Amino acid sequence: MNSRSLTFNVFRHNPRDAASQPRVVQYQLEETPGMTLFIALTRIRETLDPGLNFDFVCRAGICGSCAMVINGRPGLACRTLTAELPADIRLFPLPGFELIADLSVNTGKWMRGMSERLQAWLHPRETADIDALEARMEPDLAEAIYELDRCIECGCCVAGCGTAQMRPDFVGAVGMNKIARFRLDPRDARSDAEFFDLVGDDSGIFGCMSLLGCHDVCPKALPLQTQIAYLRRGMARQGWSAKPAS
Ligand code: SF4
Ligand code: F3S
Ligand code: FES
Repeated sequence: MNSRSLTFNVFRHNPRDAASQPRVVQYQLEETPGMTLFIALTRIRETLDPGLNFDFVCRAGICGSCAMVINGRPGLACRTLTAELPADIRLFPLPGFELIADLSVNTGKWMRGMSERLQAWLHPRETADIDALEARMEPDLAEAIYELDRCIECGCCVAGCGTAQMRPDFVGAVGMNKIARFRLDPRDARSDAEFFDLVGDDSGIFGCMSLLGCHDVCPKALPLQTQIAYLRRGMARQGWSAKPAS
C-alpha cells in the first residue's frame, strides 16, 4: 500500500510572547505504519520545528495530558492513529483551558480548582472501629466505583461542552462524575444533601443543558450521561431545586 502524504495544520501561539500572533502552520509528513499523532508530532518537532509545544507523558491513554482538538473533536493524540484520519489533519488546543503554548493547555490548574471546589476526595467516616474502616465491599459496588474512577482528567468532556465554554465556573461532566463517584462510596461520610449542595447550582447540575458532548467525546467511555441523570433524579427525589443566583 502506498503511504500517504499527510498535511498537519497546527495551531501555534505563545501567549507569553508579546510578538506571537495566533496562526495555523502547515507541516507535511509521510505517513508510516502504526503512526499515531504522538509519533507524528514528535517527528515534526524533531525534523521540522523544534519550537512546537505539545504535551505527552504516558503515550498509553492513561495520563490525560495529550488531549487536543483533532479535526474538530476533542481526543487523545497518543491514542489516535493517523490512519483513522483524512490526509488533511487539523490540530488545535483544547478550548476552555488556559493556553500554555501551541497545543499545550493547563488542564491541571482547571482540574485542581474544580476538585477543591467540589472537595473531590474521600471524606472518611470518623470511627475508632478498625473493622468498620476495613469492611469488605460488595464486588458490584467496588466495580461501579472503579468504573467512575477511570477518569484520567484529560479535559475532553469540558472542551466538548457548550456550557463549559460559556461558564468558566462550570464543573463539567468530570466534576459531576466525581460527585457521583464519592456519593457511591460507603466509606465517604458525606450525606446526599451535602453532595447535592456541592453541585446544586448553575455551575453544576442546573447549568448542564444535557448537550451530551461530554458523553460522546470521553476517551474512557465513562457513563457520563447516566451519572448526570442519576444525580438529577436523586436531587428531584429529595425535592431539591436550584439555589437562587447570588
Ligand atoms: Fe476525560 Fe472522560 Fe474524565 Fe472527562 S470524564 S476528564 S473526558 S476521562
Ligand atoms: Fe455539558 Fe455534558 Fe451537560 S456536554 S451541558 S456537561 S450533558
Ligand atoms: Fe498520556 Fe496520551 S500521553 S494519555
